[in-house]
Formats: sequence, C-alpha cells, structure tokens
Amino acid sequence: MLRTPEAVRDAERWTAHNYHPLPVVVASAEGAWLTDVDGRRYLDCLAGYSALNFGHRHPTLIDAAHAQLDKLTLTSRAFIHDQFADFCRELAALCGKDMVLPMNTGAEAVETGIKVARKWGYQVKGVTPGQANIVVAEGNFHGRTTTIVSFSTDADARADFGPYTPGFTVVPYGDLAALTAAIDENTVAVLLEPIQGEQGVVVPPEGYLPGVRRVCTERNVLFLADEIQSGLGRTGATFACEHEGVIPDMYLLGKALGGGIVPVSAVAANRDVLGVLEPGQHGSTFGGNPLACAVATEVVRLLATGEFQRRSAELGERLHAGLRGLLGRGLVAVRGRGLWAGVDIDPALMTGRQACEQLMERGVLAKDTHGSTIRLAPPLVITAEEIDLTVAHLAAILAL
Ligand SMILES: Cc1ncc(COP(=O)(O)O)c(C=O)c1O
Repeated sequence: MLRTPEAVRDAERWTAHNYHPLPVVVASAEGAWLTDVDGRRYLDCLAGYSALNFGHRHPTLIDAAHAQLDKLTLTSRAFIHDQFADFCRELAALCGKDMVLPMNTGAEAVETGIKVARKWGYQVKGVTPGQANIVVAEGNFHGRTTTIVSFSTDADARADFGPYTPGFTVVPYGDLAALTAAIDENTVAVLLEPIQGEQGVVVPPEGYLPGVRRVCTERNVLFLADEIQSGLGRTGATFACEHEGVIPDMYLLGKALGGGIVPVSAVAANRDVLGVLEPGQHGSTFGGNPLACAVATEVVRLLATGEFQRRSAELGERLHAGLRGLLGRGLVAVRGRGLWAGVDIDPALMTGRQACEQLMERGVLAKDTHGSTIRLAPPLVITAEEIDLTVAHLAAILAL
C-alpha cells in the first residue's frame, strides 16, 4: 500500500495551512534527486527556493556538520566560539565588505538591514528623528515579518496583518525615474531584489541596477541588495548585482548560505554602516551559532572556488536555450539568469499549479507562482542531461 496519501492527510490535519505543497512526501535526497516515502524518485527543480544551491547533502557540507555536531553546537553570542571569526572573515572577503552580522532566516537578514539603515540614517546621515524612509519595489518579496509584509504589494502576503509599519515608499520595479523621484532628504535606503524571485524571476531592464547605484551614491542613500534568493551562485555569478557591475552598500544573504542544512543568513557591509550597531541593539540567540558557522564557512569556500558560479552560467545557457525553444509551443515568456528561470505558461492550456502537478507525475518537482508562472531553480550540481530531461518533460506536458 502506498504511504503517500496518508502522509499527505496527516500533514494537512496537523499543520496550519500556510502553504499549498505538492502532494509528494520526501524521505531522502542526494544531489539533485529526491526520493519519496514510496520509493519514487524526483528531480528537484526548486532546490528549496535556492537554499539547496549545492544540492542535497553535499559531502563537504555534511562532513562539516557531522564534525561540528561532535564538538560544539550552540553557545549564544554571550560567548565567542572557535568557528565564528573564520566564518565572518571569509564571508566578508567573499562579499568584498569589512564585516558581517550573522542571523538565521532571510527575513531576519532583511529586518537587520532595515534596522541598520535606519540607525545609519539618524546617526550618520542626520535624518530627522523618527522620519527615516526606505524605498522598495512593487512585486517585492523580502519575507514574512509584520514589518516586511507592511511594504508587500501581494494581497495574500499583506491583507489582515495590519497595523502596518510605516516608513516605506513603494515604486514600480525597474523604473529608475520613479525611484529617483521617491527619494527625499529622509530616505536612508533603497531595498531591492536584483532579480525578483517570488514575482516570477523578473529581471529588471539593463542599466536599472547601475542607475540605482548612481542615484543612491549621489543622494547619500544606502543600496541594500536582497540577494537571499538571487545570490551565492544562482545566476552564474556570486551575486546577481555582479552581472551589471554593481556593488551595493549592503548584501542581504540567506538560503544557500546554510548549505541546505541549517538556517543561516547574514548582512555584509562596511564598517561605516554596520559599525553603527552597539551591544544590546540587535541580535539573535541562534545567529552565528557554531554549527551554522561550520557549515556556512564551507559554503563560502565552495563559492570561493568559482565552480558553482561557472556551472550555473554554462548550464543556465542550456536551460534557457531549451526553454526558449518552447516559446509559442505552450510557453508565452521565459525569464531569468543562470540556472534560474521563470516561465509563463499559456493560461489557455493550464495553470502553473496544474503544470507542476503534471511535472510531478513525470518525476520533476517545480513550484508555481502567480497563476500561470512556474519557477525552475535546480541545484547547481544538476547535469546537462538532467536539464534536457526537465525541458523534455515540460515540452511533453505542454504538447497540444
Ligand atoms: C528575496 C528574498 N528575501 C527574503 C526571503 C525570506 O527568507 P526566509 O524565508 O528565510 O525568511 C526570501 C524567501 O523566499 C526571498 O526570496
């Protein structure tokens, strides 16, 4: 008897329905492949929304976790532990920044960025007390806290969670003139995803990010790049900002930083920005814990080799070429960079959810977003043959 139906029923019975997962119950995984409780295998084309850039159970990362579990797992930041400085130094070097502040989830990194930017605004820029504002983009996704959903433009994410945190101005994504016009003397930061992931892997027009960089510099405003989903190799570079030669004032990182093993996020910036924090003003019990640091240091070292960025760039070409071949044959749009694609399915054919269900039947797991869009973000260890297989399955479900 199959175990999946009962396991799906139990999960629905005992948890809040804050997600609408595909009815697959995963029991184990290796590299780019998952196995469910009934022994069926699936190619993972979501990679935990980019949290699994190095694949499931990358041996180097698993070894680091095992070794650290046998020594020390948690101290809190009340004490310093022997994994902390190496991680912070190596991540800062990868980012080209003076220092980092480790947290756990992506939303916490975003919250940290917002707090630091506001404090910087009051203490360094001289913004009127209580008046700091941050410019953000329509279609953004930065996490789920009450402050972050306050400036979401997605009704599902925001409605009924008020009262909302003030201090944010929303402008259309990709519109430099609108962003420039929204900046005033109390603007402390512009907070953007260099590619909007949840919105459907939306790449801004060429020149937009360099334009944002220029305006931020001219107006003494911090550029906060949320690279939580776009960063750490996903787009064929360490950071998506790199494709346009842009260096933000602050990187917000998460997801893949934890190697698919532990939640690790971080903010990286220079001393004149992150240095505004003093003891007691921000923190987290688990942020920068020994297990997290041991795994994340190895993540940084994997990235420092450049291998994953190269794979993503090269294999991304293949993925995008394959997907572009389906334009007009069931797909109406293909976007993205590297091993990251958002594809819009002809709504006359099926919804994104239906497409993902049909892909699941064929042994490929992906996730829909916003009606007719599906996202493909396989682990960067996926092979050329597996990419071809994915495109072939997509072609098959779209075949009229
Ligand atoms: C760009 C971006 N920022 C922030 C987050 C929030 O991360 P977390 O779910 O770890 O809080 C996400 C999650 O999808 C994201 O894509």
